[in-house]
Amino acid sequence: MQKESSNYYVPSEDSIFFDDYLKNKTGQSALDIGTGSGILANTLSKNFAFVVATDINTVALVKAHETIDNCICCNAADAVHASFDLIVCNLPYLPSDKLLDPAIDGLHDGTEIPSVIIKSASSRLEKNGKMVFLTSSLAKYDSLIKLSESLGFDVTIAAKKKLFYEELIIIECTKN
Ligand SMILES: C[S@@+](CC[C@H](N)C(=O)[O-])C[C@H]1O[C@@H](n2cnc3c(N)ncnc32)[C@H](O)[C@@H]1O
Repeated sequence: MQKESSNYYVPSEDSIFFDDYLKNKTGQSALDIGTGSGILANTLSKNFAFVVATDINTVALVKAHETIDNCICCNAADAVHASFDLIVCNLPYLPSDKLLDPAIDGLHDGTEIPSVIIKSASSRLEKNGKMVFLTSSLAKYDSLIKLSESLGFDVTIAAKKKLFYEELIIIECTKN
């Protein structure tokens, strides 16, 4: 995950890893929370009939809207009143004391903002829907697994990728 000077999160190694993982997912409806440039939403739109993208960053949403029709500015899924087969989020996962860069700062343990996002997403799934998110060994992601289990999900670590300074982790949550 990089600090960068653009006004939205430019796709990085984490984005590409997650994007590759999502290429084989299919269904009717998908929600991409924290869409940034729209890279993941764009990939999902190839295999899902209805795709919605959210972000708190309006500059990112303008970029994402070049390829995605349904872009909404809101916290997580709070303004989205629909249910989805798949919800994805490349989380802002870096542990931080302050929210200086919302694209990467996850606050306490790198899990405080992710927890807000997971709670918001969890009520927007179709029966048998899946929530998939990307986090990192830099975050105390065990607490995200516990949170998801407490919200009624079966949780698996679906993929990992070692980088020089961290390990990227894709976590898949299925409604049980
Ligand atoms: C790591 S970037 C990922 C961007 C893009 N999905 C990708 O994979 O390249 C995290 C994104 O989440 C957005 N974000 C952070 N907190 C959010 C929140 N509470 N609700 C919605 N989006 C949020 C940021 O603005 C940023 O665009």
